[in-house]
Amino acid sequence: MKKTDSLFIFLLLLLPAISLAQEKDLCLSCHQGLTRGIVKDWEASKHFQNGVDCSICHGDQHNSASNAHLAIMPNVETCEGCHTDQAGQFKEGKHALAWIAMNAMPKTASQPEEIMDGLKGCGGCHRIGLDGGKCDACHTRHKFSREEARNPLACATCHMGFDHPQYEMWSTSKHGVIFQMEKNFQMEPSGTDRVPRCQTCHMIEGTHRVMTAWGFMGLRLPEEDKKWEEWRLTILKGLGVLDPQGNPTSRMDVVKNGKVARLSSEEWKAERERIVKVCKGCHSNSYVKENFDRADAILKQADSLMAEAITVVEGLYQDKILKKQADYPMFPDLLKFYDVPTSIELKLYVMFLEHRMRTFQGAFHINPDYMHWYGWAEMKRDLWEINEEAKKMRESKK
Ligand code: HEC
Ligand code: HEC
Ligand code: HEC
Ligand code: HEC
Ligand code: HEC
Ligand code: HEC
Ligand code: HEC
Ligand code: HEC
Repeated sequence: MKKTDSLFIFLLLLLPAISLAQEKDLCLSCHQGLTRGIVKDWEASKHFQNGVDCSICHGDQHNSASNAHLAIMPNVETCEGCHTDQAGQFKEGKHALAWIAMNAMPKTASQPEEIMDGLKGCGGCHRIGLDGGKCDACHTRHKFSREEARNPLACATCHMGFDHPQYEMWSTSKHGVIFQMEKNFQMEPSGTDRVPRCQTCHMIEGTHRVMTAWGFMGLRLPEEDKKWEEWRLTILKGLGVLDPQGNPTSRMDVVKNGKVARLSSEEWKAERERIVKVCKGCHSNSYVKENFDRADAILKQADSLMAEAITVVEGLYQDKILKKQADYPMFPDLLKFYDVPTSIELKLYVMFLEHRMRTFQGAFHINPDYMHWYGWAEMKRDLWEINEEAKKMRESKK
């Protein structure tokens, strides 16, 4: 080979690198001024250090002010090529199902467009599962920092509030309080903490698959405890997963596809074992066992109140004191949320989604106040008020 030939080949090999560099400069030439904050965050990232440029994630189709719509909005697939383990684990966990779960709710479609569009409400949190999954839910763009995602505050925007206040529960539990006193939010690998944070228990050693035994709904099938089974069947009818005769409806498919409940005892136990092992790193076997036994028993007690309340309202349907709902004839439908015609049905939904959740979630997150006063005590009050109102409705019918 002549010298000029090899020089030519060398230059040819250099071309893609030159064009990449040009592309990067092109993006920066506008975005340096246009979106300075984004460029600054990216420059502070490991991606910048490793040459992961704008166009690697956003493509190179958009290159002028008039074609911004051609920029690709990255999802889990974009990251998967370089972060196979994290993306694979994420896809097996519940975060990847968040968008599907939201859309499977019977009420989602009938909410006003202003409420559902624009990722302000439901979608603002469930976006974590949008389009296969959005990794920037915990490592926000464009820093994509590991340190940031290790901080329990990374979970707070979503795991808070009305029906899942895990952040509030954890941060005021002994675990959370000690964590804040000692760490002042300086993040080291979770194995080195004196007390656990969200990630220690739910993303064990950095595993991106999140799933728990009870799940959000606190339901499992099958149930060995006969009394509990009876109460649970009533709740499943109230959720429309079973029809009034106890046969599965199409909502059972949603439960299966969305992994809403563990549907075999092996599956349930496997999830439980995973988390029990974490506690045992710091507490004795018997201390841990007692804690879980008590929390399970609290859920059972909560289910007894819940089933009683559902049965009272169902009785009003049976006796035609409450009007049958066209699309769901016999049981009250808990999944209608706040879009219900009477105050007694509204109370039933709040009892289920706010107070039953707080009771059992508070027990597992070792927060006495959430378990008792925000949870159990409120359920007792709900049941009392539901009974009073049912009595009045029956009297006024006479
Ligand atoms: C000639 C200027 C220009 C160049 C070059 C340019 N952009 Fe943009 N880009 C814009 C403008 C203008 C917008 C719209 C900004 C707005 O809505 O405020 C935009 C928007 C975007 C968006 C957001 C799109 C959306 O739907 O919100 C992304 C992502 C993006 N650019 C990435 C890139 C990448 C990657 C490159 C390089 C391959 C690049 N840009 C090159 C001007 C430019
Ligand atoms: C590691 C991948 C990655 C790189 C590299 C990257 N981005 Fe992004 N970018 C994202 C993700 C993820 C989103 C959010 C997508 C979504 O909202 O669905 C995003 C969103 C954006 C947006 C729109 C959202 C907003 O906050 O305005 C702009 C503009 C943007 N990027 C510009 C850039 C520019 C300019 C660069 C280079 C300096 C860059 N990005 C580099 C992953 C990346
Ligand atoms: C072209 C390959 C590539 C793509 C695509 C890519 N990354 Fe990275 N990422 C890297 C490299 C290289 C590092 C640095 C690894 C190291 O230092 O060990 C990194 C590091 C990270 C880190 C760790 C940062 C830290 O603080 O230690 C996170 C988090 C991350 N990437 C998230 C993402 C996300 C989310 C996406 C998709 C939006 C993405 N990456 C897309 C190559 C990539
Ligand atoms: C952008 C919002 C968002 C962020 C941030 C977020 N999550 Fe989630 N998380 C969700 C949603 C939505 C679900 C429900 C998904 C489903 O079940 O379909 C969920 C589900 C879970 C579950 C599964 C519960 C079950 O059903 O078994 C665990 C555990 C969890 N998240 C832990 C975490 C932890 C720990 C963090 C922080 C490191 C975190 N999440 C950050 C929105 C978020
Ligand atoms: C503040 C953030 C946030 C908002 C707003 C939000 N969700 Fe969620 N949603 C979550 C989190 C976090 C979970 C998981 C909680 C848990 O497991 O304890 C969840 C769980 C769910 C589940 C149960 C999934 C399962 O597999 O168990 C459904 C269904 C759901 N949400 C639908 C909706 C709908 C519909 C809306 C709007 C009416 C909505 N969510 C609003 C964060 C949110
Ligand atoms: C629920 C929050 C959450 C989401 C969503 C999330 N991560 Fe992470 N990620 C973490 C946490 C926490 C760590 C730090 C684990 C540790 O080392 O303690 C981490 C660490 C990482 C690292 C660094 C790993 C290492 O060993 O250096 C990469 C890369 C990464 N994540 C990529 C991704 C990708 C890709 C996605 C989307 C598929 C994603 N993450 C989604 C919480 C999250
Ligand atoms: C000490 C360990 C521990 C810590 C720390 C912890 N959790 Fe949990 N979490 C649990 C246990 C135990 C369960 C119930 C597991 C089961 O069903 O077997 C649970 C359940 C959950 C669930 C499913 C619904 C529920 O609440 O029962 C979500 C979602 C969740 N945790 C999120 C979080 C978030 C977010 C944080 C941080 C703010 C956090 N957890 C902190 C142990 C922990
Ligand atoms: C990284 C170590 C660590 C892990 C993991 C851990 N704990 Fe703890 N836990 C502590 C420390 C330290 C305390 C404070 C001791 C005290 O209360 O005197 C504590 C306190 C407690 C308390 C007493 C709370 C109170 O209000 O007095 C209970 C109950 C508890 N943990 C249960 C659990 C359970 C259940 C798990 C697993 C789901 C778990 N812990 C995981 C370290 C840990």
